[in-house]
Amino acid sequence: MGSYDREISAAAVILAETKKAAAFCGSGVSAESGISTFRDPGGIWERINPMEAGTSGGLISSLAKNPEKLMGIFFELLEAFEKAECNPGHLALADLEKMGILETVITQNVDNLQNEAGSGNIIEMHGNLFRMACLSCGRKKKLDRKPLILYLKQTLRNLKDYSLESLVTLAPRCDACGSIMRPDIVMFGEAVQDLPRAFEAGQDCDVMLVLGTSGVVYPAAELPFEAKRKGADIIVINPNENPFEEITDVYIPMKTGVALPAIVDKIK
Ligand code: APR
Ligand code: ZN
Repeated sequence: MGSYDREISAAAVILAETKKAAAFCGSGVSAESGISTFRDPGGIWERINPMEAGTSGGLISSLAKNPEKLMGIFFELLEAFEKAECNPGHLALADLEKMGILETVITQNVDNLQNEAGSGNIIEMHGNLFRMACLSCGRKKKLDRKPLILYLKQTLRNLKDYSLESLVTLAPRCDACGSIMRPDIVMFGEAVQDLPRAFEAGQDCDVMLVLGTSGVVYPAAELPFEAKRKGADIIVINPNENPFEEITDVYIPMKTGVALPAIVDKIK
């Protein structure tokens, strides 16, 4: 019997009885795909100041001030995003949807991995790195993750410098108006995406899986509380901490890539 078998069974029993579960996901869900989280030891925000690189204005001035530092980390992230594959946690969520148990995945992640795992109903509150948005007319265009990264790596290598002028030459152009497009992600200080739909899903669900998040970024982190207020059972999976202790019904201190497949196996 594994160390948290009782918790895994308890979660499986709760999920087996529902058709209206929702999953609220953070960067921990993609950690086992080799993508660094933000606030764990060695995480992205330990290496770059979020107020510098996490806001569009901050990013532009940091690039102007110290392009080498930022580009060094940017290249590492590109490598990680290029190599990343869906992990068993992403696939288990897609299974739970196919089994008619999980209705919605609400994610804070921008890595497109849950989409690639085959989940149908995903709300990306912080956007998607591989979807571009036109700065003029707002049109959006989805690009394939790996070919885009390959193109970026090749063109970045050929740039004479990392000045803003040079970097802007990499930006894709809008098919409709020809203007520059940027990754359709939500930087700090910008409005999150699909907030009404996310809250509706949170209020509607009768079980919420809270997966791999430190629960410090709002308004997303309000969702588990909203679900609890509406009577949902809360199942938290996180190997290091439970930021939602006061509202938790089942806490599984494990990695999502291990715990979620184990829960699916129990249900099947
Ligand atoms: N499985 C499950 N959880 C994990 C794993 C794993 N394998 N590895 C780490 N974790 C947990 C950590 O314990 C931590 O609680 O994932 C959480 C990651 O927290 P953060 O790094 O703060 O990431 P997240 O909660 O997604 O951040 C929210 O902040 O920076 C912004 O926009 C960014 O969407 C992001 C938001
Ligand atoms: Zn346009």
